[in-house]
Amino acid sequence: MVNMVTLINKQLPPELVSLLRLAGETASQQGQKLCLVGGVVRDLLLERANLDLDLVVEGNAIELAQALVQTRPGKLTPHPRFGTAKIQWPEWSFDLATARSETYARPGALPTVKPGSINDDLFRRDFTINAMAVHLDPDHYGETLDLYGGREDLQSRLIRVLHNRSFTDDATRIWRALRYEQRLDCRLERNTHKLLTRDAIMLETISGDRIRHELELIFKEELPEKIIYRAEELGVLSQLHPALRGNSELAELYNRARNLTTPSPPPAALYLALLIYPLNSQELEKLIVRLRLPKPLAVTLRDTISIADRTEPLQDPVLTPSRIHQLLQGHAPLAINAGLLATDSSVARRHIRLYRDKLRYMRTTLTGDDLISMGIPAGPDLKTIMERLLAAKMDGEVTSRREEEGMVKGLLSSISGQ
Ligand code: CTP
Repeated sequence: MVNMVTLINKQLPPELVSLLRLAGETASQQGQKLCLVGGVVRDLLLERANLDLDLVVEGNAIELAQALVQTRPGKLTPHPRFGTAKIQWPEWSFDLATARSETYARPGALPTVKPGSINDDLFRRDFTINAMAVHLDPDHYGETLDLYGGREDLQSRLIRVLHNRSFTDDATRIWRALRYEQRLDCRLERNTHKLLTRDAIMLETISGDRIRHELELIFKEELPEKIIYRAEELGVLSQLHPALRGNSELAELYNRARNLTTPSPPPAALYLALLIYPLNSQELEKLIVRLRLPKPLAVTLRDTISIADRTEPLQDPVLTPSRIHQLLQGHAPLAINAGLLATDSSVARRHIRLYRDKLRYMRTTLTGDDLISMGIPAGPDLKTIMERLLAAKMDGEVTSRREEEGMVKGLLSSISGQ
């Protein structure tokens, strides 16, 4: 079996290793136990890069953090209410937490927290592969604490809950299970699979903010479509909204988004826009409420649906540029990009691209002030004339300042002749 010290030395930068050793020594001088825990232990064993160091202290994390910054000055941010502290050095950081036990008053509630032992702290965790710890005190440095068979599950590539109430206690773990399964190329262990499908309904107990956070994490993964596909297969996606789909079309869209848009990987909002693209307005409104989406994001998603509704008129091959502009103006740029990726019609794509790359930037040469000095009073007529002028410019009917002036004079005489 590979020794943990070897893995630490191989995968973490030397200064970070010396900080870990120092933390272990300081804790031991204080008579406290200190362990490295959670994702970093899992990733050390998998030899995957991870510099998010979570440390658990059996005792008092803030006291340890205070002593540590005395020796290696860094920015200390204590959170006394939670018994946690963050230390930020110029290049590295530690998250320290006081070991705790958690109980859940009811499904979906935030846990009731009490100080506890390292073992308690491991027992409160989601999956065996995330419930391992490595001792840092000098007498036991590098020894692994693996009470639930995490190492073996990692070798067999299994996601396994620690107990049968895990998903009812905290249903966000359902989405987390799918995220780890796909990211780490694992499978759900049989009983965990059974519990997950049984408890998918418990996602109803989770607040919109927490579900939204899970989705954001999914959209940060390399291939979010794999997780969404699996979520549909297991009846998890329908808990979010029954009309959502995680099929091969979505995979194709996400692939296109990664290959054809900048930045790549795409922002979470673009992935979300492509996910909701098949919904109608009422379905989208329900999802917006369920996820408590912030207003700007909600507007962008509404714009996306509005563009989806406009792809039919946009497929007309003889549309004038001004009509294309009229159909697309006012929509959020991200919604325009989503429409461009999602529409099947090459004509519609050509029109959307023309709008995105050219029409939306076009302005008339004459300004509002120019029109006023030509005798048009400020007001609704001025606005109409500006719009007609812009449409004429887009459609190539006026191509210079002189021609714009000619057009304005013509419109002016038709107004005054009325
Ligand atoms: N955890 C949990 N239940 C949750 C969220 C977190 O038990 N609903 C525990 C897990 O043991 C996890 C640790 O808290 O390892 C830290 O959570 P997080 O930072 O989200 O996970 P990481 O394991 O660091 O995973 P990632 O690699 O995705 O950041």
